[in-house]
Amino acid sequence: MVGTARLRGLMRDMTDTIKGTTTMKTRTAVIREAPGKWDIVECDVEEPRQGELLVKMVASGLCHSDDHLCTGDIPVAMYPMAGGHEGAGIVEQVGPNTPGWEVGDHVVMSFLPGCGKCRWCASGQQNLCDLGATLLAGSRADGSYRMTLDGAPVGQMCGIATFSEHALISVDSAVKVDKDLPLDKACLVGCGVGTGWGSAVNSAQVYPGHTVIIMGIGGIGINAVQGAAHAGASNVIAVDPVEFKREKAMELGATHAFKNMEEATAFAQSVTNGQGADSAIVTVGVVKGEHVGEAFAAIRKGGTVVVTGLGDLTEVGIPVSLGELTLFQKRIQGSLFGESSPTRDILMLLEMYRKGRLKLDELVTRTYTLDTINEGYADMHAGKNLRGVLIHSS
Ligand SMILES: NC(=O)c1ccc[n+]([C@@H]2O[C@H](COP(=O)([O-])OP(=O)(O)OC[C@H]3O[C@@H](n4cnc5c(N)ncnc54)[C@H](O)[C@@H]3O)[C@@H](O)[C@H]2O)c1
Ligand SMILES: [Zn+2]
Ligand SMILES: [Zn+2]
Repeated sequence: MVGTARLRGLMRDMTDTIKGTTTMKTRTAVIREAPGKWDIVECDVEEPRQGELLVKMVASGLCHSDDHLCTGDIPVAMYPMAGGHEGAGIVEQVGPNTPGWEVGDHVVMSFLPGCGKCRWCASGQQNLCDLGATLLAGSRADGSYRMTLDGAPVGQMCGIATFSEHALISVDSAVKVDKDLPLDKACLVGCGVGTGWGSAVNSAQVYPGHTVIIMGIGGIGINAVQGAAHAGASNVIAVDPVEFKREKAMELGATHAFKNMEEATAFAQSVTNGQGADSAIVTVGVVKGEHVGEAFAAIRKGGTVVVTGLGDLTEVGIPVSLGELTLFQKRIQGSLFGESSPTRDILMLLEMYRKGRLKLDELVTRTYTLDTINEGYADMHAGKNLRGVLIHSS
């Protein structure tokens, strides 16, 4: 005969199986409040439910967007929030009834999930998938959480949390990649490379012979440089106040580099018969309305400003001439993940890397461990890195 306590235990086990059970601990970096810094903690992670994967992270890029959580420029709906959204790893456990996935599969995480069914996914705009609605709450689409700290729910940045040694993710955020690709480089394609490259190729629609200005040469801007060069621009003009960034831009495809927009704009006009650049792509770390205004003043009639960088999300207002907007028919185009579709373009960009047509190895300036993540972000602010990458311990 089963005792009452044992019966209660069995019932609790059964309920846990239905709800999802905590099976393991993982170290991760969380932000508890803004402004704040990354705090290294040990969280509990559930085992995967249907449609989910437990991933052992190999590497995570240190994108500026996670830093916006620390400053509060991007307000999140849940604290603590486990950070990181540019990662790659290896599948360690597959949820029940989750076809197409196996233990040992290699994955690059997409910071934007794709359901494949909504209006946007069906229109080739997977970057705008409706599943993006809960990304800054760090929850699943139904509002539930998969990580806890001392029993309280923890959000996962973009639903993935690539700063975690292990993370439970939805298959909608995972792109399976070939096992021979180096994951410590491939991780960059999950955000920075796809965003920058697509900002030039998809959003600015750079054509052969164009003159393009890229404003801000970090992990995003350097890939807009690669994209613009790849699309055949005659003048790829990099702008950054940091000399090291300008040097790197010249190594990776820029034809000219300037320390401010005034010089870049004058140069663009000098090579276009006074008309101005065909497009200007804003990839500054903390974007303000004035940056967009400077880019707007640099482009020709019918030209395009692409705004990819983020700043204080509550800021309103861009100082642009309404006359120029209408009469010069200029465009200001926002760009999320460079208007790339994750499941198509992550694989396409990795194939370009394999063929030597896209540089990834050269993007990584320094690597860090989970424990030195705040150093990594200090180096980003000091302008020392094109991209810093966190390498998880094996
Ligand atoms: N739209 C998207 O989908 C998307 C995706 C990822 C990142 N982002 C955003 O893109 C921006 C860039 O990210 P990152 O990781 O490359 O940042 P980063 O800090 O590595 O690079 C930003 C660069 O801008 C330069 N800069 C600062 N002020 C400048 C100015 N006035 N003129 C020219 N250059 C200037 C800095 O020196 C630095 O080199 C961030 O705001 C980030 O949040 C957007
Ligand atoms: Zn990013
Ligand atoms: Zn969708």
